[in-house]
Amino acid sequence: MSLSAAEVEWLTRALELARAAAGFAAPNPAVGCVLVAADGRLLGEGAHVYARRDHAEIVALKQAAAMGRDVRGATAYVTLEPCSHQGRTGPCADALVAAGVARCVVATVDPNPLVSGSGLAKLLAAGMAVEVAEGAIAWAARRLNDAFAGWIQARRPFVTLKAAVSVEGMIAPPARARAEVAPHWITGAAARVDAQALRFGAQAIVTGIGTVLADDPLLTDRTGLPREPLLRVVLDGGLRIPLGSKLVGSAEGDVLVVGSLEASEEREAALRAAGVEVVRVGGSGGRLDLVEVLKLLGERGKISVLVEAGSAVNGAFLRAGLVDRVVMYYAECELGLEGVPFAEGVASPYAVQERLSSVERAAFASDGTVGAADVRVSGYLPDPWRG
Ligand SMILES: NC(=O)c1ccc[n+]([C@@H]2O[C@H](COP(=O)([O-])OP(=O)(O)OC[C@H]3O[C@@H](n4cnc5c(N)ncnc54)[C@H](OP(=O)(O)O)[C@@H]3O)[C@@H](O)[C@H]2O)c1
Repeated sequence: MSLSAAEVEWLTRALELARAAAGFAAPNPAVGCVLVAADGRLLGEGAHVYARRDHAEIVALKQAAAMGRDVRGATAYVTLEPCSHQGRTGPCADALVAAGVARCVVATVDPNPLVSGSGLAKLLAAGMAVEVAEGAIAWAARRLNDAFAGWIQARRPFVTLKAAVSVEGMIAPPARARAEVAPHWITGAAARVDAQALRFGAQAIVTGIGTVLADDPLLTDRTGLPREPLLRVVLDGGLRIPLGSKLVGSAEGDVLVVGSLEASEEREAALRAAGVEVVRVGGSGGRLDLVEVLKLLGERGKISVLVEAGSAVNGAFLRAGLVDRVVMYYAECELGLEGVPFAEGVASPYAVQERLSSVERAAFASDGTVGAADVRVSGYLPDPWRG
């Protein structure tokens, strides 16, 4: 049954709440809930914040109770199917039933194939009316929790690889053509602002030492949205990262340098003294083991990892089959065929693009500084919601 315009509005409100708290939900999904009386009055609402434990449904029920509002006969609008199992908290499906909620409208079912549908089954068994949304609102609710959907199925962080490429599929001019150690912008301001949202959606950002030496990036989330700190990670087998780099200089417990087992202990001590965390992982052929890197990030609750790196690291992630989503910004600029290719060992960005599913496109107007309009093409390898 399709939802009324008013019901879609309530679900949209629940989605807004989930989005506003998304920076604090990992490693759980971002979820929002709104409780509405039969006469259309808002009774309670809330979103999940991992550190506060309560799931969105419980936050909304507690808010209604604190305000002395009776939720019996109400409708719960929830962005994700209520859970049916005992985890850090009791099952939300049971709490809704116990509170006397009469109807539950969910934007999307749980992405975990092992429990998907069981929360709804529990509500139905208790005599509650249940609706599952379709269309744009369902799509938006799923996209908000891509990382959780990937994480819960693969049990490793969901990896988004982002790159800005020239018309030849290059990501930077040849090293010899670079006059200074600073980012070489390929896209215009609008596309770069858009790319910041990818940082907000991640708990860790990963780059390679090649990019640090060429660009001296900061790799911060500049959206200004409330969140847990973004962990900035550098793959740096030889611990070559300069102490004077922006990353080291700005470290506040949020910079992690991953070195090889053989790297110098003096370098490690110097980096630690500068406030940088150093971990070592194994590897082969002089390259760090990326599965091990993702495992250690997962153990820290980083379920969404953004790779913003150069050719070597991009290629290594793609060739190892460790990329779940690709976001390509195509710029109308030329870097020449001797530029830095998109990904080592990968024919071209277009070869990767051909393999993407659930592809979305967006265009960004030129700001007049670089090339003409930029185009973003993004998609999945494969879509975690079709798993
Ligand atoms: N347009 C864009 O979107 C974009 C984004 C970022 C960077 N860039 C450009 O990319 C260029 C740098 O590319 P790059 O290839 O030299 O640098 P990179 O991919 O950022 O870093 C490569 C280095 O990472 C280390 N590494 C550690 N583990 C690795 C693994 N498993 N696989 C591969 N590398 C690993 C290696 O150094 P060790 O052997 O010392 O560990 C390797 O040399 C710069 O010109 C930069 O401007 C462009």
